[in-house]
Amino acid sequence: MDLTPIHPKVTPIYQTSVFKFASLAELETYYTAPDHGGMYGYSRSEHPNSDELVTEVARLEGAAGGGVATGAGLAGVLAVCQAGDHVLCPAELYGGSVVLLSKELSRLGIETSYVPLADLYDVARHRRPNTKLVLAEVLSNPLLVVLDGPRLAQSCREQGILLLIDSSFTSPILTRPLDWGADMVWHSATKYLGGHSDLTAGVVVARDPEIGRHLRRIATNLGLMLAPLDSWLAVRGLKTLRLRMRQHSENALVVARFLAKHPAIAQVFYPGLETHPGHELAESQLLNGLYGGMLSLRLADDTMAAAERFIQQSQLFPLAPSLAGVASSCSYPRPTSHRGLTEAQRRALGITPGVLRLSVGIEEPAELLADLAQALD
Ligand SMILES: Cc1ncc(COP(=O)(O)O)c(C=O)c1O
Repeated sequence: MDLTPIHPKVTPIYQTSVFKFASLAELETYYTAPDHGGMYGYSRSEHPNSDELVTEVARLEGAAGGGVATGAGLAGVLAVCQAGDHVLCPAELYGGSVVLLSKELSRLGIETSYVPLADLYDVARHRRPNTKLVLAEVLSNPLLVVLDGPRLAQSCREQGILLLIDSSFTSPILTRPLDWGADMVWHSATKYLGGHSDLTAGVVVARDPEIGRHLRRIATNLGLMLAPLDSWLAVRGLKTLRLRMRQHSENALVVARFLAKHPAIAQVFYPGLETHPGHELAESQLLNGLYGGMLSLRLADDTMAAAERFIQQSQLFPLAPSLAGVASSCSYPRPTSHRGLTEAQRRALGITPGVLRLSVGIEEPAELLADLAQALD
């Protein structure tokens, strides 16, 4: 079927594993020309939907090196590390990333060590001779500790160590880590980039074209390339990212201020609140005066029973252990993201039984407040 005369406004879903070539000469051009001469061959290597997603994220992040869309962020570490290398991370790192590093990359001979974020800036002190990469998040999960991105980037640069930033909580609307001097940015596109809780995906983009090429090679060879439908859904999500981030952030600030005054709440963790210890840093570093849609709270009755009562009462914050969808949700870190830790380790990180994490959606704020009021009262 020749579709040449058809000009769809939106890129269609290229649900095909392979693309046809008209001749052996064309096949040769595909293998030898820069960027495959604009052609596609095999969808494990590249396809138009994933290309569109990566191009758009790279544009938003200012990533000249391009990148790759995958099912997981693993590619970001693998692109620059090999057996014998060491990765340095904050102790507050997302539990899934810790599992990936400690259980899978360790088997490939890549070592990891963790230091509290507050100490991580002294990279010279914590590095090992084989340290290749620092991996850090802009806002930590679940207590929203704010990273000083430019400071960490400078420490890494002084040591000749690469910096990969997980910007899943912030999106390129709130931060552009490459502008701080980071080398790569990683998004769980499952979160704000997709934004509708209907796909799982990761996008990694790089400043350096050499790293960008390496990212794509790894995705091809390890079979990590994101499927056309998920790529397409993420691209559709990106079209409203700016609007959604504004509404998520405005709603979260309203919710945080409401919770901060409520007698059933002992503590609210939201960088947009003036009382948050990282507020000034967030204010100086986050773009567009927005602080995102993620916040956590500690109930005054700091028990699991009280957390369960909140979960049962709330109608608009269902217990769903992901985040960043247009509809609000709630997560309980103890048995999910921080399940692998002992009670003592969780307490040391401030994750007590009454800590809940809210992902504030883009609903009418008054409806969110009414629901929280009835759940907490
Ligand atoms: C900060 C952060 N990074 C990465 C991930 C991993 O995302 P995915 O499941 O899309 O690979 C998550 C998932 O919750 C996350 O919260």
